[in-house]
Order: sequence, then C-alpha cells, then structure tokens
Amino acid sequence: MTGECVDGLEVAVRAAVARFVAEIRLHDRATGAHVDSIGAVAGVVARGLAEDGRIDDWTAAWIERVAPLHDVGKLDVPASVLEKPTGLDADEWAIVRRHPTAGRDRVTGILDRVVADLTTPAATDSTDQIALVIDLTASVVELHHETLDGRGYPHGLTDAEIPVGARVVAVADVYDALTAVRPYKDPWSAQQAVGELSRMVDDGRLDGDCVAVLARSTEELDDLVGRAPRGGPDAPARR
Ligand SMILES: [Fe+2]
Repeated sequence: MTGECVDGLEVAVRAAVARFVAEIRLHDRATGAHVDSIGAVAGVVARGLAEDGRIDDWTAAWIERVAPLHDVGKLDVPASVLEKPTGLDADEWAIVRRHPTAGRDRVTGILDRVVADLTTPAATDSTDQIALVIDLTASVVELHHETLDGRGYPHGLTDAEIPVGARVVAVADVYDALTAVRPYKDPWSAQQAVGELSRMVDDGRLDGDCVAVLARSTEELDDLVGRAPRGGPDAPARR
C-alpha cells in the first residue's frame, strides 16, 4: 500500500465516523455524547498499550479512530428505549443487547462502501491493511460487551478470544459510564473509576493491561471527567 492510499482510507473512515456521530446525536442524545468521550478514553488506553509495547502504534491509532463507532448498532434500537428514564424490562434489554451484532452488520456495510469509494489503487499491502482495519472495527463493534470471564454478550467469549481493540473499548466503555453524569448518580472521579475498574480486573472481567494504563493516566483522564452527560442504557453502571 502506498502512504497515499492509507491516508485515503484514514480520511474516508474519519468522515464515516463523523457521519455516524451526527446520526446518533439525532437518534439518541446520550449515546451521541458517549461516542465522543469514549474515543478520547480509548485513545488514552490504546496509546498506553503501544508505549508498553503490547500493540503497535498503527493498531493503537486505528483503535482510537474507530472506537466512536462501537455503538453504531444503537441506531437499530428505538430512541424510546435508549432514552427511557426508568429501568428497562426484559424485552427492552433484549433489544438493547442486540446492538453489537446489529452494529457489526452496519459497520461492515459502511466500510465496504468506504473501500469501494477509495480512488487510489491499492497495492497488496494496502489490501492487507484495509482488511485489518475492517476486522479491527468489526471486532470493536461486535465484541465490546464481551468480558474475559465469559459472562459478557453477545457470544460469551473468554480471554484470548476477545481481540485487543474490543478489550480497550470495553474498559473505556465502563470508565465512561462511571464518570458520566446520570439522573441517578453523580459522576465518579477518575481515581474512583479506576478503583472500580481494578476490582473488575480482579474479578476476571476486564483486561488488566488496559486498566493499568488508565491507573497511571488519571491526570490526563481528569481533563475528560465532568463533560456533557454520557453513556447509554447498556452501560455497565446501570446493570
Ligand atoms: Fe455498547
């Protein structure tokens, strides 16, 4: 792949992410705010993993870039459910819990169109990189509610079955839920949120390497706390 083609893909994906963020803001205000902040938190985690040599810089950059797409499947969940002020019933939860697989279908369609519209001819390595970006994005969207202990959804995967991008976004998702303003709770500080995330690592649910990055980044994270209300009804703090 030429650098020009990579740039073409990057610019095209950024545009696709921006279109999704605009669309979800119209659909559901809380999720719209959440997708902004989760990209920033996922970026902190992914860059930290790269600094630790656990992933390469290219992967870290793409995790940050596509993280805002993780809840794209909520476009298939009625706003009346997403914005419901009281607890969801079993049927409504079942609808919410379908958003990872619905999102995977949406995002692969989005990326297929993005790739088809690329005007720069792709060399062999560019095709490989495009395939990696599609795989990474699809896994982030489909698997961001999986937990290492197999109690997540939609597939109940465990440990190494969950790719790093989904692990990063899972941690960022919980962090964002805890530090968000909710009608029923005050926002947690970065320090408090990291304490809870560490307990979830001890319980075997979240990736310890990802949480270790957050634990040493609380100063940076404090700048992200206390912004607009964030988090959708699938966020773990409400489970
Ligand atoms: Fe989600």
